[in-house]
Amino acid sequence: MANAGATREIEILVRARYPILYVVSWEESRVESALIEIANSRRKRLYMWTATSGLYLQGARTGDNDSRQPLVVLDRIMQSQEQALFVLKDFHPYLGDDQVVRKLRDLVYALKLTLKTLILVSPILELPPELEKEVTVVDYELPSYGDLGALLDRIRSSMEGKQGVDAELTPEERDRVIRASQGLTLMEAENVLARSLVEARRFDVDIIVSEKRQIIRKSQVLDYYHASEEVGSVGGLDVLKDWLAKRTHAFGDRARQFGLPEPKGLLLLGVQGCGKSLTAKSVANLWRLPLLRLDVGRIFAGLVGKSEENMRKAIRIAESVAPCVLWVDEIEKGLSGTESSGASDAGTTARVFGTFLTWLQEKTAPVFVIATANDISQLPPELLRKGRFDDIFFVDLPTLDERVEILRIHLSMRGRDASLYDVQRIAEGCAGFSGAEIEQAVVAGMYDAFDREEELATEDILRACEESIPLSATASGRIAGLRAWARLRARRASSGDPVELPQLPDELTDLIRLAGMWVEDEGMLDDGGATSDCGPSDEAPHD
Ligand SMILES: Nc1ncnc2c1ncn2[C@@H]1O[C@H](COP(=O)(O)OP(=O)(O)OP(=O)(O)O)[C@@H](O)[C@H]1O
Ligand SMILES: [Mg+2]
Repeated sequence: MANAGATREIEILVRARYPILYVVSWEESRVESALIEIANSRRKRLYMWTATSGLYLQGARTGDNDSRQPLVVLDRIMQSQEQALFVLKDFHPYLGDDQVVRKLRDLVYALKLTLKTLILVSPILELPPELEKEVTVVDYELPSYGDLGALLDRIRSSMEGKQGVDAELTPEERDRVIRASQGLTLMEAENVLARSLVEARRFDVDIIVSEKRQIIRKSQVLDYYHASEEVGSVGGLDVLKDWLAKRTHAFGDRARQFGLPEPKGLLLLGVQGCGKSLTAKSVANLWRLPLLRLDVGRIFAGLVGKSEENMRKAIRIAESVAPCVLWVDEIEKGLSGTESSGASDAGTTARVFGTFLTWLQEKTAPVFVIATANDISQLPPELLRKGRFDDIFFVDLPTLDERVEILRIHLSMRGRDASLYDVQRIAEGCAGFSGAEIEQAVVAGMYDAFDREEELATEDILRACEESIPLSATASGRIAGLRAWARLRARRASSGDPVELPQLPDELTDLIRLAGMWVEDEGMLDDGGATSDCGPSDEAPHD
């Protein structure tokens, strides 16, 4: 049950005499059977090494004690006259040793002249920079639909005749069970399926999905997100919603036959609290695809060096669950290290970001990436370059009509009949408010009414609007800068004209400044640093 893509890649690399391969996988046994296959078909001998068994010919159990030493085994490989594959399992802890690194570099030249290949197999990628050029990394993907189907069929046949277990599946049910298992390793899938049989006495998609959610969460970088948000809960943003609606069937066979490519992704930029995250969440429901949330902060939270591994892991899981929506919220938060010179791990951040950019550009798996950002000064310019996303949308403050729509949505979400309220008047009274601020005004009005033991009235919401100062008033310079910046770089998410930014009376402005609530607006129009486009040549983010 080998993984065709990665196995083929390894075979090609072996034939092309790449000296050292580094196969990243949690599934040693799957990789091992693939390597046996390759060794057989290339008529090569296959040697295995582990720190506890030493070097031994595949099929034998152990080697001699001496060869357990990393330097000794590398010498043996150097001296061997055989045409062979040498597989070192979990060798990564030794890659921190200078002598081992030096020996590996010597080996590169020796191996190039012979028909030997060194293959490192490990669940984590830890490669010292000195070896980056010499070692070819192969990501062993998670099991395919076919692999999981074969596993499921094997479990089903082993269950035949078992009392009290219903392992029968219609073709549609079988498809659903396999899709629910995508994103898991074979061993994880086997455990989850077994658990479902024990708990429910049948293959229960709900059990499988909830187990999968746990397992994916344990990967610490992705969340299998259950979005309840529908597109109907997003007010305004007509251009953006239309873009999304037109692509509802874009991942189906009919779109492929029509000759359409799968959508790659969207970047949503804009003013705080205006529905970027909300829209991102609603896409998955609109398109009926699973939603994975990538936490950029968590990718970089781990140890330096581990972040790269985390990013690769996230990509691999997303691809195995595809077609799916991958939501990267507040992308600038994690990537700011690529720009700021103060960050001590700037190199790592830049590298990890590079991995992500390359993947965005070249991915073939139908993973739709929807990224959101509100701080453009933190946004690396490479992200905005053509080819990364299908489109970049700018989400601005809601217009009058949009505010009416948002009010209606939030009133009915709270069990109110919106036609009983003068939403037009409220919308006029909350010019410059973001969607989130409109929602807050509705809630504040409800508290007032509740306190008086009366039903919510138009006046309650109006009063709440009057009593609060929207962010757009205290950050008007910032928003103006954001708009100017976006004019040349993004499409407006809404067809309405930009709303005028509220002007506060001078005495209020002074008060706000005194209270330290004023949002400084310098830097937004300055076209240096992250807001400039650095031309086509700089693929790698600079630090
Ligand atoms: N256009 C909208 N329609 C309906 N509700 C909205 C809209 N915009 C914002 N809201 C309300 O405000 C909440 C916060 O909005 P959201 O998280 O989408 O903002 P955001 O644009 O992602 O802001 P940030 O930049 O701060 O992340 C939403 O959950 C929703 O309840
Ligand atoms: Mg958000």
